[in-house]
Amino acid sequence: MSTVVETDVLIVGSGPAGASAALALSTYGVPNLVVTRYASLADTPRAHITNQRTMEVLRDLGVEQEVVAQATPQHLMGNTTFCTSLAGEELGRVRSWGNDPLVQAEHELASPTRMCDMPQHLMEPVLVDAAVARGTRLRFETEYLSHTQDADGVTATVRDRLRGDTYEIRAKYLIGADGGRSKVAADAGLPMGGQMGVAGSVNIVFEADLTKYTAHRPSTLYWVLAPGATVGGIGAGLVRCVRPWTEWLIVWGYDVTAGAPDLTTAYAESVVRKLVGDDDIPVTIKSSSAWTVNEMYAERYANGRVFCAGDAVHRHPPSNGLGSNTSIQDAYNLAWKLKLVLDGTAGPALLDSYTAERAPVGRQIVTRANQSIRETAPVFEALDGLSPQTPEQLWANIAARKDATEAAEKQRDRLREAIAFKVYEFNAHGVDLNQRYPAESSAAIVPDGTPDPGFDRDPELHHQPSSRPGARLPHAWITSGTRTLSTLDTVGRGRFTLLTGIGGEDWVCAAEAQDVEIATVVIGPGQEYEDPYGDWARLREITDTGALLVRPDGFVAFRHASAAPDAGELLADALRRILGHA
Ligand code: FDA
Repeated sequence: MSTVVETDVLIVGSGPAGASAALALSTYGVPNLVVTRYASLADTPRAHITNQRTMEVLRDLGVEQEVVAQATPQHLMGNTTFCTSLAGEELGRVRSWGNDPLVQAEHELASPTRMCDMPQHLMEPVLVDAAVARGTRLRFETEYLSHTQDADGVTATVRDRLRGDTYEIRAKYLIGADGGRSKVAADAGLPMGGQMGVAGSVNIVFEADLTKYTAHRPSTLYWVLAPGATVGGIGAGLVRCVRPWTEWLIVWGYDVTAGAPDLTTAYAESVVRKLVGDDDIPVTIKSSSAWTVNEMYAERYANGRVFCAGDAVHRHPPSNGLGSNTSIQDAYNLAWKLKLVLDGTAGPALLDSYTAERAPVGRQIVTRANQSIRETAPVFEALDGLSPQTPEQLWANIAARKDATEAAEKQRDRLREAIAFKVYEFNAHGVDLNQRYPAESSAAIVPDGTPDPGFDRDPELHHQPSSRPGARLPHAWITSGTRTLSTLDTVGRGRFTLLTGIGGEDWVCAAEAQDVEIATVVIGPGQEYEDPYGDWARLREITDTGALLVRPDGFVAFRHASAAPDAGELLADALRRILGHA
């Protein structure tokens, strides 16, 4: 062991969490180095649903358009279809991922971005290319082995898998973004609650032109209720579109107590034939891999100078499509804090807010994703398909729903209701956008004395904008000259932003007088920004003369309803608390 490589932030892992941490840090000018175990980025599709909040993050990091250009657009994602096989009988559909007209309106009102389907093997190169172009140093085939930390930094030992030797990397901070078997999290002693290996699943990636079974009901997910589909897995057989309508990924369960099946091509093809239901269509198997459904989350995301993000601290099934979304959002929450601590603007206490803000989100999404699996059971129950039975019995139960009897009508009602209930998995807009970081637990949020208004509607299904400290800045379309932009476009880029209106000059002066960089945005007639639709005035929950201080990650940190003679002091106090100087 000879060389010691130095950097500010060492990132272990180049998945969605590590790649987006690198991208954000490089965007903010923080030197960082990524080590990743394999010779390439993800080579299978894996995570894919990309929600509006993640698209907002990518918009701020300047790669939204690259993602949109490669992703399957929202309108092709949205008919989650339940069937006996793609060629078989259809049992019902749920309008999904913002494609229900009412939900679509809520999506359009909530964000300047659209959700899309961006498979992980396409997403990672976008993030990593941009990160490297902005300064990230990246080492493939480099495995993290261990670390020690002291008062000034972290020393990690890594192994160059090409040469076989080890060397040390000295960093001021270490980010463990090394996925569901995180060694960094284990070495840092981050306690995990829950259970690994709750159920067994197999992913099979294949090519087949399935246009005739899918293009008329475009969807990201086709759920198959077939004999054996309730064993292990994620609630039913799943045929997932990777590229419309020729590239696919099947998820099929196995009994975890019996161990993973032998993943031969013949096995993979038999599963594909069962779920597609057409023995004649040409199929090319590209890969098969086994994985387990996990229900685990860490209570703490950091230990000293070591921070973990993504699957390293929350492990859950793909239901609701929360995996890479939450991982990217973890990294985005952490990156600006590291930047401000590293450049001396903030004290290390700011970093405590990372666990305080993100651990509850991790717990929430692990719980939701696993609950979504359980909520698929009533679809089978409606068809009396949960008890052990022969395939013939299952088909007879499914056929019975067509009878002209009272019992069959009840069965049809139960099936409709069970499928409709799956909106909690496929249209849970609130789960995507309603995160709130409470001032009671996070010092990076300043309470404004108002009571928590709660949610008017189901908080999992419906997004509710709020400008209360701890909420993400509400989106409204505003204008600047001939340009139309979102309020979210005025914030971000690694710096704080103060939003006010006519009569808010004291706030502007106060912001300009602070030691920390704060962009100022004045919205009103004749100002740099105008609110021609009145949307912002309806959403902002302050008066013209009030102010919102928005963090670099788009969350409101401080709110004051109106003008204040002591604006300078109020803002300075707020910043002292947020930046860990209080
Ligand atoms: P991720 O696992 O993506 O990345 C971890 C990174 O760390 C990798 O680059 C890895 O090489 C690296 N690494 C690990 N140990 C290391 C070490 N010791 N040294 C150096 N580098 C190391 N989700 C979903 O929503 N739908 C889906 O269908 C699937 N399917 C799926 C299939 C398979 C096979 C997997 C493994 C995962 C999924 N997922 C998924 C989950 C989804 O991929 C996951 O939630 C995100 O990728 C999490 O992103 P992270 O960046 O946290 O970890």
